[in-house]
Amino acid sequence: MKVLVVGSGGREHAICYCVAKSEKADKIYCAPGNAGISALAECVPIGAMEFDKLVAFAKEQQIDLVIVGMDDPLVGGLVDELEAAGIRTFGPRKNAAILEGSKAFSKDLMKKYNIPTAAYENFTDPDKALAYLETAKFPIVLKADGLALGKGVLICQNLEEAKEGVKTIMLDKKFGTAGNEMVIEEFMTGREVSVLSFVDGNTIKTMTSAQDHKRAGDGDTGLNTGGMGTFSPSPFYTKEVEAFCEKYIYQATVDAMKAEGRPFKGVIFFGLMLTEDGPKVLEYNARFGDPEAQVVLPRMKNDIIEVMEACIDGTLDQVDLQFEDNAAVCVVLASEGYPVSYEKGIPISGLEEFDRHEGYYCFHAGTKFDGDQLVTNGGRVLGVTAKGKDLKEARANAYAATEWVQFANKYMRHDIGKAIDEA
Ligand SMILES: Nc1ncnc2c1ncn2[C@@H]1O[C@H](COP(=O)(O)OP(=O)(O)O)[C@@H](O)[C@H]1O
Ligand SMILES: [Mg+2]
Repeated sequence: MKVLVVGSGGREHAICYCVAKSEKADKIYCAPGNAGISALAECVPIGAMEFDKLVAFAKEQQIDLVIVGMDDPLVGGLVDELEAAGIRTFGPRKNAAILEGSKAFSKDLMKKYNIPTAAYENFTDPDKALAYLETAKFPIVLKADGLALGKGVLICQNLEEAKEGVKTIMLDKKFGTAGNEMVIEEFMTGREVSVLSFVDGNTIKTMTSAQDHKRAGDGDTGLNTGGMGTFSPSPFYTKEVEAFCEKYIYQATVDAMKAEGRPFKGVIFFGLMLTEDGPKVLEYNARFGDPEAQVVLPRMKNDIIEVMEACIDGTLDQVDLQFEDNAAVCVVLASEGYPVSYEKGIPISGLEEFDRHEGYYCFHAGTKFDGDQLVTNGGRVLGVTAKGKDLKEARANAYAATEWVQFANKYMRHDIGKAIDEA
């Protein structure tokens, strides 16, 4: 069959890697893709938000399955448009992708269906938000309602900071229309775990757990980024935690969406915090995480197309989802200066080593070809993933592999997966 993957990051590279492994895929396209993806798929120069062009391309090429990897097109309704044109598509429709697209919606959903999450209030009026803060406990968390590239959450230590935060989100509109509404919620403490899942509208099957590292610097210092590295599984996601989440969170979320007339088909990403009062949902995403996908998907034993088709057809209950009994670590190689400012167009070398080693992967995020030369083309450049029999081995392997890769302004964190030493 012919498959079209929509997106251009490391996550889409990992998806393409799995699709390429599938016996069912004869031809893979990726729109717009990147230099690394072009080794597995034919990249077509159509942006992920160019819905008309994507639909036209899928019809013209008689694509059998479209996989939408990114949040913006999902929340914008790309799946609905492709389906309306008769094209089979993996991913939630617009009315379900709101689970990620509106934090106010997801908080109200959790409250209504008793899914554990931080206490909160939603606000559309900045004056009411400011008045509420006067009597609030600190620290407190402010969240822009809509998509904000992972930057719309502000943790405020005191009233002054929080007032400034309301101004930033709702009045200055730093995150654009994402700040038309805002969630103010209780500050929680605990370890964070990400759990990805496949969902077919009724049935949910969770994948192996993962943990990411959002801050730019070692020891969780510096600015927030798209993600500097991940490990999987998380040793903090114990059987006990899993049992709790199965009882109160996973199926409850799928059932709640169905009850609201918004059946969810695709990937739900549960951002969890393991608090003293038990696991609570920080947020939902409506797609694979990036770079979580880069440690989860290489460990999946199933044929990804079979699983995705089962999600579309509502037959996920018949799928035995299996992961390898090992571990993986992904270290992101970024451009020095990311996420603020950095140079691009710098030659990259050493990637041929990944073809010579089993269990090592180099997923491209921001790269392109300048003639024949691979060059950097973004803040996050590459995701170096390695497997190992356990997390320690996977971490050592991943860091060894980062040495294979050279580019002049290479930057990485040196403590990805360090938390496992405390487990
Ligand atoms: N209620 C909370 N208490 C403590 N930390 C939080 C809370 N909500 C969010 N955070 C922190 O902020 C990060 C980003 O928040 P999240 O809701 O995941 O939004 P997004 O990923 O869209 O930016 C979380 O990973 C967590 O570290
Ligand atoms: Mg998050």
